[in-house]
Amino acid sequence: MPMSRTAVAHPNIALCKYWGKRDAELNLPSTPSLSLTVAPFRTRTTVTWGADADQVVFNGAANTGSEARKILLTLDRLAAARGEARPPCVVETANDFPTAAGLASSASGFAALVLAGNAASGLDLVPSALAVLARRGSGSATRSLQGGWVEWAMGDPDGADSHGVQVAPADHWDVRMLVVLVRSGPKEIGSTEGMNHTMQTSPYYPAWVAQAPADVEEARAAVLARDLERLGRITERSALRMHASMLAADPAVVYWKPETVLALEIVRTARKAGLGGWATMDAGPNVKVLCGAGDAPGLTDALQAAGLSVQTLVPGGPACVTE
Ligand code: PMV
Repeated sequence: MPMSRTAVAHPNIALCKYWGKRDAELNLPSTPSLSLTVAPFRTRTTVTWGADADQVVFNGAANTGSEARKILLTLDRLAAARGEARPPCVVETANDFPTAAGLASSASGFAALVLAGNAASGLDLVPSALAVLARRGSGSATRSLQGGWVEWAMGDPDGADSHGVQVAPADHWDVRMLVVLVRSGPKEIGSTEGMNHTMQTSPYYPAWVAQAPADVEEARAAVLARDLERLGRITERSALRMHASMLAADPAVVYWKPETVLALEIVRTARKAGLGGWATMDAGPNVKVLCGAGDAPGLTDALQAAGLSVQTLVPGGPACVTE
């Protein structure tokens, strides 16, 4: 009897970034990281376990490419974790926000997938095992199973304990994350390729790795103390240092567009004028701005006045099975 279950998950935006793998096969990070799960963006995924044949429908279209292979491989691993072979599966997954544009669609995608797959299969893996499976699909996905403020530690050498752990729930602190959408198309260089190239060719990469643990320590303390200025400073610094390591690669990995620099400039200028916002960027040109609820309208006005498109996100809850 085929069994279908649906799960939803929000993406997360790293405040202290993950950029580099110490083990490519297990997808273990070279640095710890810390993120905020953000709503209302979300991925909705339905898994039918025991279908006639494997099929992946990605954002409304049948997909037989590398995305589909990674999705089915994750379900293979889920079954293997219980010592079983996977039956044919149908996976229907869709994002209500731009896919692969540096807005963490792979994070919400693999988080929703492991939850839906676990429920449809009846294999009943424990949450930490699901968080490890999500990590193997996309590192940042291990931070999207939990809501709110989430830390991903480097963990033991074998990585069994390297997964997202909640630092504080979504309602701990009512901040905003503004998304400045500079480009909605897929990124030019995938994050795995960009990371590997940075690791192999950037003389700044070791310095990036060396400073990360202290940043996460300080960011965790700032989250728990609800100290936005302190967290904001670490956030902007972490993103710029990550991008500095990419810019020093050979050839450079450059995700920035002119509007990226414009948005950064507006945020810095607004800060001097007393509006507390701090920028971060991922593997793409889009800028996200961490700010307090009170300063969000003023920052939005300043960004929109320069012709930039802005959406407002809030802390999001955990991934969950809905049907
Ligand atoms: O999870 P991946 O493989 O898509 O890598 C995510 C990398 C960044 O978004 C740039 C940083 C992060 O910690 O999310």
